[in-house]
Formats: sequence, structure tokens, C-alpha cells
Amino acid sequence: MGSNLDHIYPVFDTMLPREAKEDLLGQRGAVIWMYGLSGSGKTTLANLLERRLHERRKLVKLLDGDNIRSGLNSNLGFSDGDRLENIRRVAEVAKLFADSGIITVASFITPNNELRDLARGVIGDKDLLEVYVKASFKTCAERDPKGLYAKVKAGEVKQFTGKDSAFEEPSRPDLIIDTEALKENEALEQLFSAVMAKIGDSAG
Ligand code: ADX
Repeated sequence: MGSNLDHIYPVFDTMLPREAKEDLLGQRGAVIWMYGLSGSGKTTLANLLERRLHERRKLVKLLDGDNIRSGLNSNLGFSDGDRLENIRRVAEVAKLFADSGIITVASFITPNNELRDLARGVIGDKDLLEVYVKASFKTCAERDPKGLYAKVKAGEVKQFTGKDSAFEEPSRPDLIIDTEALKENEALEQLFSAVMAKIGDSAG
């Protein structure tokens, strides 16, 4: 039986090298992968990070779960298989952006280590900064920014992460941002410094 890759001829060696684009932009591409429960603060922090980096004249692309799921991944739900396909596609897209020299911030629940490893496998250690945005299910349910936890309580949302779909504690994130312990600006500064270190720029 043939594989999906039969009659596919990828050509990378004649493409303009990544370094040429990084030179043009004056920055190094990277993927900042932020994961954690819904309501943990991923989107808020990702948006603040984008602005903070933009102020430093860095080109950033945000990829956020709710946005991507309303477009590119609108055919995917929340079964284990669909979450895997969601993360696989996003990791591939993030890699394309990073290969163009863009600092790509991906904000997805990414509920288990298999999915985190999948993203790492696609993106590669060199380009990836893995950030666990940490807050307990109880805290996220109290914050409930989208009113989703109330719906979960009323039995209106199936396969909800942390309830009837598991959230596995991460084995080795590069950085943990505890949004229960930190104020918003403290969380942002921690994140910003780690990103600047990752892309070889000094945070000041
Ligand atoms: S992931 O598990 O595949 O990484 P992703 O980050 O893309 O999830 O999407 C999560 C967002 O989808 C949540 O922030 C929430 O707004 C929405 N959502 C809708 N249904 C669910 C569900 N069953 N579990 C988790 N999030 C859900």
C-alpha cells in the first residue's frame, strides 16, 4: 500500500534560508508554547506578551485555541484524537512561522505530555520555549472568564478539560508561571525575560 507521501517532492535546499529572513527582521524566530487549563491566564498573558515584544520592535504571531478552532481547526472537537490533530496542525503552523523568523506564541490547553512531546517533536528543542500557565481547576472555575465553567456545572459541556477529560501535570516545562501566586505584571515580566533569553536578546 502506498503512503501519503508517495509522489510528494519536498524541496527545502533551494529556498531562501531562514537566516536571511531573521537578518531582515533583526530577530530570531522561536515558538513560545503556553499551556494550562481553560481560564488559567494563557490568552491574557499571550496578548500582553505580544504587545510587550511589539514595543521592543519584535514581530510576533499569536495562535490561540479559540481563534484557531474557529478557522483552521473548525472541523475538530475535544475527543483525544481531535485534540491531538489540533496540536499537530498548530505545531506545524508554528514551525512555519518560526522558520520565517517570527516569534510565535501558541496558547492551547495541550492537556497531556504526549501532546506536549508531539509539539516539541515538530518544533524542535532549539526553537521551543514550553511555558506552563498554572492555576488550579477551582481557581479557573471561580474566574470563569467565558462563563464556560458554569455551563460545565450545568452539564452543558462534554469532555471538558479537568472534569471528564484529563489534564496531566507537565513533566518538564521550561518555565512555570503560577497565575494564582503572581500579579499580572509580575507574570508578564517573568515570561518576557524568559522569551528574551530564548531569542538571545537581553531583557531591559
Ligand atoms: S486543546 O485541548 O485541544 O489544546 P484548545 O486550547 O485548542 O484545547 O481549546 C480550548 C478552548 O476551547 C477553551 O479555552 C474553551 O474556550 C473552549 N472549549 C470548548 N469546549 C471545551 C472542552 N470540552 N474542553 C476544553 N475547552 C473547551
